[in-house]
Amino acid sequence: MPRSGALAAGERVLLIDGRARRYLITLGDGRQWHSHLGALEHDAVIGAPEGRVVATSRGSRLLAFRPTLADFTLKMQRGAQVIYPKDTALIVTFADIFPGATVIEAGTGSGALTLALARAVGDSGRVVSYEVREDHLATAASNIEAWQASFGDAGHVELRLGDVFEGVPEQDADRMVFDLPEPWRAVGTALESLAPGGIVCSYLPTVPQVSQTVEALRGGGFGLLSTFEALVRSWNVDGQSVRPDHRMVAHTGFIITGRKLSP
Ligand SMILES: C[S@@+](CC[C@H](N)C(=O)[O-])C[C@H]1O[C@@H](n2cnc3c(N)ncnc32)[C@H](O)[C@@H]1O
Repeated sequence: MPRSGALAAGERVLLIDGRARRYLITLGDGRQWHSHLGALEHDAVIGAPEGRVVATSRGSRLLAFRPTLADFTLKMQRGAQVIYPKDTALIVTFADIFPGATVIEAGTGSGALTLALARAVGDSGRVVSYEVREDHLATAASNIEAWQASFGDAGHVELRLGDVFEGVPEQDADRMVFDLPEPWRAVGTALESLAPGGIVCSYLPTVPQVSQTVEALRGGGFGLLSTFEALVRSWNVDGQSVRPDHRMVAHTGFIITGRKLSP
């Protein structure tokens, strides 16, 4: 599981073209990667350091790097819509996901947030992730396995097929993170399974969902409630052209956090 040194056969590599389009490939001895840019010999990448420019048969130039976790989650297979890196970053910080923590997650979806949580809890922590749909769980399992096989840093993940509204057997969890359409129905589960002072965090795309969730948390044994969203705007910085990019991901979702009170 290399993180440095020359790129090797079997590794996942990100190729970036002149228009900043990104392609994720797995390197194999003697193989070729085909696209509208022409064919690329994997052997031109194998053995090269990261950051090397390689050329296709049509003369297109591609930069080769190992993917970051954010690159990987945006490129991996999707069953359900993934949470974007700008939001997983905030969830990890504002839900205070710490090394060694026990985190209960629902639903697993494609596993993008699971990977971010697993990295944050580290080797001594644990992420138990619940998902009602078997097909989504299978997609998440394959994505998590692919990341772990390449980079091995995604901590201890337990995927469970189950409905979080019906309660979970885990007790005294440190954190509970929901990306569900109806998280207000999981407030009872959070109250039962979180340790006192534990943090519940919910990610939601629409305002009515936010109102219903906040009211359920407020009346359901949680305090210090906070709701916010993140707008991340990238900039073009090129000579005199220093300005915000014309396009941005405007709305993704709201993040709600709260802490379990003691009676
Ligand atoms: C938007 S997706 C989650 C995406 C995920 N956060 C990611 O980044 O890849 C929401 C998931 O919640 C699952 N779900 C809905 N209700 C559930 C429940 N009661 N218990 C467990 N999972 C549930 C859905 O099947 C769906 O896969």
